[in-house]
Amino acid sequence: MKIVFATNNQSKLKEVREIIPIGIEILSLKDIGFFDEIKETGTSYEENAQIKTKYISNKYSIDCFADDSGLEVPCLNGAPGIYSARFAGTPKNDINNIKKLKEKLKKKTKPLAYFKTVISLNINKENIFFKGKIKGYISKETKGINGFGYDPIFIPDGYDKTFGEISSKIKNKISHRSIAIRKLVEFIKKNFF
Ligand code: IMP
Repeated sequence: MKIVFATNNQSKLKEVREIIPIGIEILSLKDIGFFDEIKETGTSYEENAQIKTKYISNKYSIDCFADDSGLEVPCLNGAPGIYSARFAGTPKNDINNIKKLKEKLKKKTKPLAYFKTVISLNINKENIFFKGKIKGYISKETKGINGFGYDPIFIPDGYDKTFGEISSKIKNKISHRSIAIRKLVEFIKKNFF
């Protein structure tokens, strides 16, 4: 089966394609000829993910899913949360976002953090959500070149390396997005194969 992953984020696309099993072909927005940006105007991960899937299913009458993710730091009252991509302003810039977050956390030791993902799936005119979450802490140092976003400063529980240093194979075993994607795959396998 073919399904659209409604994202313009090439890193997310690569991650998800590595997790999804043979038999489910992931099409990108580019593959279906969509090159705009869908504005994330919601106030929750659920709303933002659903805005993307509703827009694409309505425009193309096609099954699709989208994720909305973010980094939450409890000692900053959950910030940057749904504003993770634009934490240091627009246009979004990963280096500035990391700089701003580190500045806010400079007096803290190993501040607790969570990456969260909500996936919205629009299939057969039905809408379902899948969630994933991973616990870790924010590193004092920015390390590694793998992944994207806050990966170089996030150290997952049980590890002593950032997501930026860890291979994509390991990130894809434990990450928030991989947890949500595996739930989506189970759902599709159970109901559509
Ligand atoms: P969105 O889900 O595309 O709205 O953006 C979420 C933002 O959260 C990204 O731009 C990143 O800054 C951050 N983020 C989400 N997931 C990850 C991840 O797996 N690694 C690093 N940063 C992430």
